[in-house]
Amino acid sequence: MAELISKLKTMQPGPQPITVEGWVRTKRDSKSVCFIEVNDGSCLKGLQVVADKASIDNNLLNNISTGCSVVCEGTLVASQGGDQAVELAAAKITIVGECPSDYPLQKKRHTLEYLRDIAHLRARTNTIGAVERVRSKMAFAVHSFFQNNGFYYVNTPIFTASDCEGAGQMFQVTTMDLNNVPKTEDGKIDYSKDFFGKKTSLTVSGQLEGETYATALKNIYTFGPTFRAEDSNTKRHLAEFWMVEPEMSFCTLEGDMKVAEDFLKYIFKYVLENCEEDMDFFSKFVEPGVKDTLIHVVESPFAHLTYTEAVKELEKSADKFDFKPYWGCDLQTEHERFLTEEVCKRPVIVTDYPKEIKSFYMKLNEDGKTVRAMDVLAPRLGEIIGGSEREYRLDVLKARMAELGLREQDYWWYLELRKFGSVPHSGFGLGFERAVQYVTGMQNIRDVIPYPRASKQCEF
Ligand code: 4AD
Ligand code: MG
Repeated sequence: MAELISKLKTMQPGPQPITVEGWVRTKRDSKSVCFIEVNDGSCLKGLQVVADKASIDNNLLNNISTGCSVVCEGTLVASQGGDQAVELAAAKITIVGECPSDYPLQKKRHTLEYLRDIAHLRARTNTIGAVERVRSKMAFAVHSFFQNNGFYYVNTPIFTASDCEGAGQMFQVTTMDLNNVPKTEDGKIDYSKDFFGKKTSLTVSGQLEGETYATALKNIYTFGPTFRAEDSNTKRHLAEFWMVEPEMSFCTLEGDMKVAEDFLKYIFKYVLENCEEDMDFFSKFVEPGVKDTLIHVVESPFAHLTYTEAVKELEKSADKFDFKPYWGCDLQTEHERFLTEEVCKRPVIVTDYPKEIKSFYMKLNEDGKTVRAMDVLAPRLGEIIGGSEREYRLDVLKARMAELGLREQDYWWYLELRKFGSVPHSGFGLGFERAVQYVTGMQNIRDVIPYPRASKQCEF
């Protein structure tokens, strides 16, 4: 079997036979030798394969072009060039799949916008390849953080009949014939004829079901796709994104914030320790200094502000914003960024938001006006985590639902958690793509997920 290039680059030159498989990035000729850069995706920088024109068939060498797949056999030798420690002196090269000249990834810089149109090929570029390697390591770090800290991984459903966030952003799911929708006698859609016998959607969050398992297994987390019909065409919203949602029983907002901070720092540290080559690349070509920023974030405590304090800070600089801040307003991205980039100059946790701008399940504070919510805001992005202590008092929760017009019968099972052995509990949701954006410095969320789904975008 061929060795991965990531491994070969750490090996010493030697006489043992080596096989490399991969795709040609570039080919360069000199009079007597041909230099072929082969990349197998295992790491950023490929391996230089050197073919001696006197010993390797020249027709074959002529047919090697950018993008074609090859198997190269030979030995590792110390490299003459300064760029790499070792290279492969080729004894034999086989072209596995040719690549005609209309291959879109010729050796020139392509814009990320253009690459989105060829998402089936873009992972072969340095940038997207690096993003995907980091994303994979981050997913592993998510699991290892929680598994090492006594959390169980729970798979919450994708189909659901309850709207967790109550923001009306759900994608409806149906098998009914849209040209001939069954109707009841009074002319309404007859969902009893639909697949599930009731109105159903794709989940916007696994939280509510996650809470049911936290009140049994104590500490749990979910990590899966969530769906929101966000019409906003921004650099930080997707219609399909992955969310990490821990939920802890016997835990108040203080504990929740501690887990959130420890968790983010763990992931950042893991990436710094395990993705050095890719992080150097991002720091150099994508977001200057992103690596040093991460190191700094890992080492310093997050800042804390209440919503009320945050609004006071924003009001002092009101002329800087398109949307004028006032107590009661939902914080806009420009406000969130100002708080973290200008006021605190590091990630900041904002707590105790007005109940009107937060979800029904959050614990009401004694003032009757604010809830025990917390958002973690990060420079460049704004919100990356949203969480809260949950309302565990049955009567208070019911009253809040009534205020919002939510029907108890739709949440009967959720309410039973407050009836049978209720307990203070808390959790949060990390938008996984936003975390990948933060770590890599990538500007647009559509470039940190393999196949972005957004309004009017569902190719592939
Ligand atoms: O703040 P949100 O809406 O919180 C929840 O869904 C809670 N149920 C979480 C919980 O307490 N268990 O979303 C959580 C995070 C946001 O902070 C953001 O990072 C991300 O999910 N997010 C999105 N990411 C990409 N595209 C979108 N459309 C997103 N909407 C939210
Ligand atoms: Mg939120």
